[in-house]
Amino acid sequence: MPESMGWPEDPDSPRPEPAKSLLVEDGLEIVSPVEKDAEELFIIVDENRSYLREWLPWLDDVTSVDDEVALIRSLSEKKDDNFCFYLIRQFGDLVGVISLNWVDWSNRSFGLGYWVSQSSSGQGIITKACSRMIEHCFDDLMLHRSVIEAAVENYPSRKVAEGLGMRLEGVSKDREWLYDHYTDGTLYAITAPEWASRSQG
Ligand SMILES: CC(C)(COP(=O)(O)OP(=O)(O)OC[C@H]1O[C@@H](n2cnc3c(N)ncnc32)[C@H](O)[C@@H]1OP(=O)(O)O)[C@@H](O)C(=O)NCCC(=O)NCCS
Repeated sequence: MPESMGWPEDPDSPRPEPAKSLLVEDGLEIVSPVEKDAEELFIIVDENRSYLREWLPWLDDVTSVDDEVALIRSLSEKKDDNFCFYLIRQFGDLVGVISLNWVDWSNRSFGLGYWVSQSSSGQGIITKACSRMIEHCFDDLMLHRSVIEAAVENYPSRKVAEGLGMRLEGVSKDREWLYDHYTDGTLYAITAPEWASRSQG
């Protein structure tokens, strides 16, 4: 019997699954959340609420530990392979979150989301976490195109995309509703061959 080609050559074969955890560097890892992480996650969100609220749309939906429990539970129960998020831990401490906001398996593309606590920002944590996640998506999940969308005026987030070598592909008018106003959005992308040639130097 001929051996199956596997995904993506055979679209009906099982797709690879995102890793449960990834080591970014010594002392820095990204790990799938479990229910017992909910309280720790709520505390860091609550402590950084006004800082995160400037650019993220979901802060008013997270008002209790139970909201985090529900989110983590929905992640494990739904088995939605188009969305997942990871805790970023620095020497064990929770410092932020990185997510696969969407995966378009048909076109083998994915969108990254992220945040880090204010006190842990500016250390390169998110750039390094994204780099590891992109590597995983290209090398292990065999995806082809990585996308980051950031508000035009969210300069730290745009710097992350630019630091990763992503190309600015355009600006979307009124891309996201943030509580009481629309923000225009930038769209950055890089393909797997571009990533590989960048990695080679
Ligand atoms: C955007 C964000 C995730 C960046 O995380 P970070 O770990 O601080 O990013 P890094 O340390 O990897 O820095 C990336 C770049 O942004 C720059 N930067 C970080 N904080 C900055 C600030 N407050 N103002 C201007 N630039 C800043 C860094 O100097 C770095 O630039 P460089 O590569 O030229 O040195 C973080 O600021 C954050 O969580 N913001 C609130 C939530 C958010 O905006 N999420 C993204 C939505 S699209």
